[in-house]
Amino acid sequence: MKKRNTYFMYTILVILFGCTNASEDDLIDQTELPEVVTFVEDVQPIINNNCVMCHTNPPENGAPMPLLSYDNVKDAVLNRGLISRISSEDLGFLMPFGGPRLPQNLIDTIIQWEEDGLLEE
Ligand code: HEC
Repeated sequence: MKKRNTYFMYTILVILFGCTNASEDDLIDQTELPEVVTFVEDVQPIINNNCVMCHTNPPENGAPMPLLSYDNVKDAVLNRGLISRISSEDLGFLMPFGGPRLPQNLIDTIIQWEEDGLLEE
């Protein structure tokens, strides 16, 4: 009887971990990056959905600058540490302010944008 219960527990664990792994694979499938990342196609939608509620013009909620235009966002990558802010593990430093962290594929898109040369379109 005792042994049976142990097998039962193992079965449950296998099922649980099986599910966790499956959903991680699903996430990885969705993280394919475009061939060349551009501001208009790829980056602006991320910023519009996650940043401009504060980084508007004039900025709100204590944000120091707008992130509305190509020049704003490019300047923030080059001079204001935008990529380290969105990649941070430190909730006091992370952007979006107060978290949660952006999904990894969106962070990777912005990192790739910098590597591709911060193209506008
Ligand atoms: C809820 C409001 C809010 C949201 C949403 C938000 N920010 Fe911020 N952001 C702030 C505030 C407030 C500061 C200033 C305090 C600080 O530096 O932590 C700031 C500072 C920054 C800075 C540093 C500026 C400097 O010169 O030091 C960067 C870069 C930045 N934000 C980028 C982003 C990005 C990119 C997003 C979206 C992914 C985002 N923020 C979303 C409020 C916000």
